[in-house]
Amino acid sequence: MSFPEIRPRRLRRTPVIRALARETSIEPRHLVLPMFVREGLAEPSPISSMPGVVQHTMDSLRRAVADAADAGVGGVMLFGVPAVRDARGSGADDPEGILNVATRGLVDEVGDAIVVQTDLCLDEFTDHGHCGVLASDGSVDNDATLERYVAMALAQARAGSHLLGLSGMMDGQVAAIRRALDAEGFTDTLLLGYAAKYASAFYGPFREAVDSQLQGDRRTYQLDPGNRREGLREALIDEAEGADIVMVKPAMGFLDVLREVRDAVQVPVWAYQISGEYAMIEAAAANGWIDRRAAVLESLLSIRRAGADAVLTYWATEAARWLGE
Ligand code: PBG
Repeated sequence: MSFPEIRPRRLRRTPVIRALARETSIEPRHLVLPMFVREGLAEPSPISSMPGVVQHTMDSLRRAVADAADAGVGGVMLFGVPAVRDARGSGADDPEGILNVATRGLVDEVGDAIVVQTDLCLDEFTDHGHCGVLASDGSVDNDATLERYVAMALAQARAGSHLLGLSGMMDGQVAAIRRALDAEGFTDTLLLGYAAKYASAFYGPFREAVDSQLQGDRRTYQLDPGNRREGLREALIDEAEGADIVMVKPAMGFLDVLREVRDAVQVPVWAYQISGEYAMIEAAAANGWIDRRAAVLESLLSIRRAGADAVLTYWATEAARWLGE
């Protein structure tokens, strides 16, 4: 009988050895909490496909952001759900629109205690649910949409948003918005380019979260899930256009893209663990099929290991508390 000369298990023998050997860590500061705030809401409203996540009132939003900051979460990403929608998404750049009002109120209150971020996309504000304005043939008009995005960016910057999340997937959006912000003196407003954003089936629960009006799909602007090189290309373009951070989204199905983007760009790379990823783990845990806490932490660790500098996740506050224990 021969014995192994090489024994990797030595590094796994005790908790302290394992801790010394652990390659990847996750800390509360690496987490960003996406949040929904709905216009004209009296009480927080549960989202049935995302157990534990709600559409917030202004008041409950404030309390939840204070909780997140208290747990050490790095940032919050705000999504607005307006009461009224139209073809051009007028509520998006209206200073009295829900997202801008919520941002202003929050930034006034929390200052620099947590990074207040805003989703910059028209889909919550349009009556057709697309991320841009439509041309007469019904297609999403890239360059007309850029003008709307610029107006939205200025409104969000004026409201005090620290970081704009450019999630609409229009060509040239980072460059157009950077130029417009700089011209108005908003040189410190951070831009997160949703570079490799895929047309995913796993956005399903999010559509409920924002009462989306979308018929059809977003395949003329979001990426085909089969494309790796194209994701990398989008990330390189966003970096060249001046994005401060680039995003890969969704996270768990696209860890290979995340690793490649991390290796190819110099700016921070973030990943968005989206609504369907959240819903899957919650559903399995609710059935007793997996250990909820262990599965959540493993999913976040895996996203970090693949290369994410930070992770947007609906578990941000809860995970931050676990990590702080
Ligand atoms: C578009 C947007 C979407 C998400 C974030 N921003 C939906 C989409 O592209 O269809 C999805 C996030 C999630 O599923 O958690 N503004």
